[in-house]
Amino acid sequence: MLRDVIDILADPTDGSALQLTDDDRRIVSDSGHSFDIARQGYVTLAGGEGLKHTGDDADMIASRETFLSGGYFAPFVEAVSATINQALDEANVADEDRPAIVEIGAGTGYYLAHALDDVAESRGVGIDISVPAAKHLAKCHPRAGAVVADAWQRLPIRDRAVDVITVIFAPRNPEEFARILKEKGQVIVLTAHPGHLDELREPLGIIGVEPGKIEHLMEKSAGFLERIGEDEVIEFPMELDRASIAAQIGMSPSARHIEAEDLERRIAALPEKMIVTAKAQITRLRLA
Ligand SMILES: C[S@@+](CC[C@H](N)C(=O)[O-])C[C@H]1O[C@@H](n2cnc3c(N)ncnc32)[C@H](O)[C@@H]1O
Repeated sequence: MLRDVIDILADPTDGSALQLTDDDRRIVSDSGHSFDIARQGYVTLAGGEGLKHTGDDADMIASRETFLSGGYFAPFVEAVSATINQALDEANVADEDRPAIVEIGAGTGYYLAHALDDVAESRGVGIDISVPAAKHLAKCHPRAGAVVADAWQRLPIRDRAVDVITVIFAPRNPEEFARILKEKGQVIVLTAHPGHLDELREPLGIIGVEPGKIEHLMEKSAGFLERIGEDEVIEFPMELDRASIAAQIGMSPSARHIEAEDLERRIAALPEKMIVTAKAQITRLRLA
């Protein structure tokens, strides 16, 4: 709930502190701005410019929910949660400190909810620019607050307020991450690795993993964040039927690049079940 994280959140325009008011139906900032909490429990914290795009649409979010609830990405979620625990241990953060975890581009809250279950007393903010995502985020875990905001703008989070930032297949803004991270905090980034979903590329005509993502992240991080140790590569086979393949493609950018009818035809031509590789890498960063 937003109540659990109100001390971490900030006015998106000027960074001032926020308070809940009107029986938790509204949030006001010290500087006098007011933000209504939606019936579904999320709040939009956008500055004067508003939000420039809408992120994943309702169909993509529904596909993500379907696919992730199949448990196919369990090794990813387990690796992310283990890395969060490691980061908190390294910073000597105890459960009683109520560690603050912020996930950027949090989607349905699958990873955030797992992390909050794994770290007793922790609380989390799920940020996503997509309203359909925020509706899921608001109910993903009792200790999660859901916020609609743009990762490329000033984040609606107070300075030095966050123990761990997670970014799972989502936008990375090192300058803002460095501002909101506590002194000993860490950023945990999971990025698709070349080879991810390879078996589906040719038969479905989906786009490949863009090379050089981590190099680009490190360039943008210069002066803000530095890498910790070696990246961890996580690779595992998934046995997918056609329905889960359709859900996997439906939650990815490929959903926007291929005509629905073409995609349906190509999926129908696949074998009933396929072994598909999942491959991603975890990069850890700290303040430079
Ligand atoms: C590939 S999905 C990953 C979702 C989630 N992390 C997961 O792995 O299940 C990327 C998410 O980032 C969100 N997103 C895209 N651009 C964004 C932005 N500028 N600010 C915040 N969220 C954004 C999308 O709406 C989408 O939910």
